[in-house]
Amino acid sequence: MANHHAFQQVVADLIREHHGKRVVSFEFEGKRYWLKQVEKLVGPMRLLKQNASEALNKEINVLTQLAKQGAPVPAIADVGEGYMVIEDAGKTIKDLLVNPQDMNWHFILNDAAVALAQLHSMQLAHGRPALRDISWQDGKVKFFDFEAHQQGKSILSQQVRDLLVFIHSLYRYIGPSNELINHAVWAYRTAGGELIWQKAKQFLASWQWLYYFAKPFRYVGGRDLKPVYWVLWHFRQRDNLAYRT
Ligand SMILES: Nc1ncnc2c1ncn2[C@@H]1O[C@H](COP(=O)(O)OP(=O)(O)O)[C@@H](O)[C@H]1O
Ligand SMILES: [Mg+2]
Repeated sequence: MANHHAFQQVVADLIREHHGKRVVSFEFEGKRYWLKQVEKLVGPMRLLKQNASEALNKEINVLTQLAKQGAPVPAIADVGEGYMVIEDAGKTIKDLLVNPQDMNWHFILNDAAVALAQLHSMQLAHGRPALRDISWQDGKVKFFDFEAHQQGKSILSQQVRDLLVFIHSLYRYIGPSNELINHAVWAYRTAGGELIWQKAKQFLASWQWLYYFAKPFRYVGGRDLKPVYWVLWHFRQRDNLAYRT
């Protein structure tokens, strides 16, 4: 960065102006950045304040480590007491869905799925890769808001969880029309995720009773429940060959 001191001045002003605001985006020398501050908790949650700043520190460590390993994460531009600044990674897929008509969803979702498979091939997991924490810009996918590493869980089971969260999020935001989703999951499998997909299928075998439970809610359930049915439905399709167009 050309002028680090001026940059820090801008950040200090922003923190004064938006103290405690979770994320603020701003521009500096023609580039966009995001200031993320420690989560501000109200009421009894304030007792957990220690955890909130720990969570941010953890996130800083995770982002630094993953960037070193070459994972697709936004670079950290600055850190300080109770905040970090990261480079803009473009719009999240959830944001892009607000104006879906002028985008090629086939490409975007495939790119995201392949990026997740690549992250997993690096023996990494995200923790909660929902569409609001995945960005897409000109074919480039970035992940942010990593949940802390889940202690005591094997990397494979964390990756299975990632895949299920991802598919759940696809059904949640894109709905039961499934051709795009089948294509995306197929892309995940062929980009190195096959073993994880098979494990997810095995894992869900013991949850198939939930399929019948969730069925009445498949069109009318809440925003989180409805997609549960479709995730189970997805894994019930015979071998899920995507290309049934
Ligand atoms: N580097 C970034 N590039 C683009 N958008 C971002 C970036 N960082 C944060 N955002 C936006 O801000 C939102 C909240 O940031 P996030 O890190 O997910 O915080 P939280 O822990 O509160 O969910 C994201 O969902 C995204 O819309
Ligand atoms: Mg988030």
